[in-house]
Amino acid sequence: MAPERWKHPYPSSGKDADHDASRRAYEEADPTAFSALSPEESLVHSNAVTEKKFMDVMTDGTDRFVPVGENRRPERQQAIARLVKGIVNVADIVQVPARNAYYSKVMPHERIGQGTPPDEVLADVELLHLVFGDGDRKYYPELGTQDAEHSNLRYEDGKATYFDFEDADLAGRIRLGPGKHTSASLAHLARKLSELRDHYEGEDGLRLIRSILADSPASLYQLFPYALEMNESPEKFQEGLLRRIGQAEQLVENMRGGTDGMADAA
Ligand SMILES: Nc1ncnc2c1ncn2[C@@H]1O[C@H](COP(=O)(O)OP(=O)(O)O)[C@@H](O)[C@H]1O
Ligand SMILES: [Mg+2]
Repeated sequence: MAPERWKHPYPSSGKDADHDASRRAYEEADPTAFSALSPEESLVHSNAVTEKKFMDVMTDGTDRFVPVGENRRPERQQAIARLVKGIVNVADIVQVPARNAYYSKVMPHERIGQGTPPDEVLADVELLHLVFGDGDRKYYPELGTQDAEHSNLRYEDGKATYFDFEDADLAGRIRLGPGKHTSASLAHLARKLSELRDHYEGEDGLRLIRSILADSPASLYQLFPYALEMNESPEKFQEGLLRRIGQAEQLVENMRGGTDGMADAA
């Protein structure tokens, strides 16, 4: 039996809606709160996009979707995107079974309610690195406009979205990225880590993990082959994820202590 289509259970307004209603809600909602359902048969090649490298961009008439190659660990990218949804503005990875393909949704910034100030972008990039082991994202506020191709993030109209989670890995050590923090970015980071903890603690957290895993065509072991023990069961996964969050929180706490008195002095 095919799993029910996955939709992010936050916010609760979408929870009990039937499929059509939830599809409508998703189309109208702020996409940072809802995950895109697979557009299935409706994707066609986008003529609006003329650059050569974007030849394969698809559209469902509203949004654009960039193909994610099958050698880019699309299943893992999808799981990671769903795990952080609601905390960090990640691009949805949608699967189109009819085409046997995955796409990264170019997030509609005009439908995103809240902007992301530069200090928060620093925090988001760090969170993805610390907890999810994805260090392939760069943001240097002093350089201004970002080159999306090399930074795996898009920052336009004051809204930031992140894509390409190919490098994510839950096996490695928790370590900081190269970004320079400010007291504001560390405050955002501490707040987001605590939100992430709230998402994944207790029965609700386990339910969320189960629903993400149930909708993946890959097993937990296939998704995270190197995350030893964590990949043995949803319970172990929850335990390991909370442990990583805790370690990241500790690190951030130390940094906040260490920057007392010197932060923003320059
Ligand atoms: N969700 C997205 N939003 C905006 N641009 C995207 C998105 N996904 C991919 N792209 C664009 O497509 C390029 C390739 O996608 P990416 O997933 O980063 O693969 P790779 O880095 O392996 O080539 C990116 O550099 C970016 O320019
Ligand atoms: Mg990339």
